[in-house]
Amino acid sequence: MQNIIEVNNPVVKNIVSHLRDINTKGYQFRKYVKELGKLLLFEALKNEKMIEKDINIWVGGGKFPFLDEENIVVVTILRAGLPMLDGILEILQESPAGFLAMKRDEETLEIHTYYVRLPDIKGKKVIIADPMVATGGSLDTALNILKEKKPEKIISLNIIGAPEGLKRISENHPDVNVYIAQIDEKLNKDGYIIPGLGDAGDRAFNT
Ligand code: PRP
Ligand code: URA
Repeated sequence: MQNIIEVNNPVVKNIVSHLRDINTKGYQFRKYVKELGKLLLFEALKNEKMIEKDINIWVGGGKFPFLDEENIVVVTILRAGLPMLDGILEILQESPAGFLAMKRDEETLEIHTYYVRLPDIKGKKVIIADPMVATGGSLDTALNILKEKKPEKIISLNIIGAPEGLKRISENHPDVNVYIAQIDEKLNKDGYIIPGLGDAGDRAFNT
């Protein structure tokens, strides 16, 4: 699973443990997810090429390096990905955003896509953010939808993954680098990650 990069940093692991804690309330949960969105972005873009832009500064004008924010599209999967998107867009303030809404059927674990709203991603870099990779069905489906629109490259930012789902992503999408805060032990028979954190959407939005 060469394209799956677990971020082994104590700052990241500390937040993951707070997310697991059942006493972490919805507003704290969203805040932690948001901060992990930023930390994963930081790791994923550490070798990113920069562009020079002319700007005026206090001692005159000059060229300075910037990320090519307008050509980086940030996509999330509703619901649980929303706080990650929020964090990433606090940094990439010029980047367009796209939304995919998906729901896992609780019995069959099949993915139902019920809304797709994407800006033009042809030839652009896409960052997709979703906290959980359990069976990998949501991310696999999302990557297939994105690839139909011919982006230059896709990077995935995720918080907790099960080996089963990550293997599926690695096999079906070896071209997509996945930056993940934590690889957990396994899936249970209901498709939940063990130890995991429960249902990320429910935890974030008090449902
Ligand atoms: C969660 C999570 C992922 C998905 C992962 O969403 O946000 O999108 O589960 O599971 P998978 O790898 O087996 O597809 P969920 O379907 O619970 O929807 P929600 O975000 O609306 O709660
Ligand atoms: N979705 C979640 O939010 N949590 C899991 O453990 C599995 C899928």
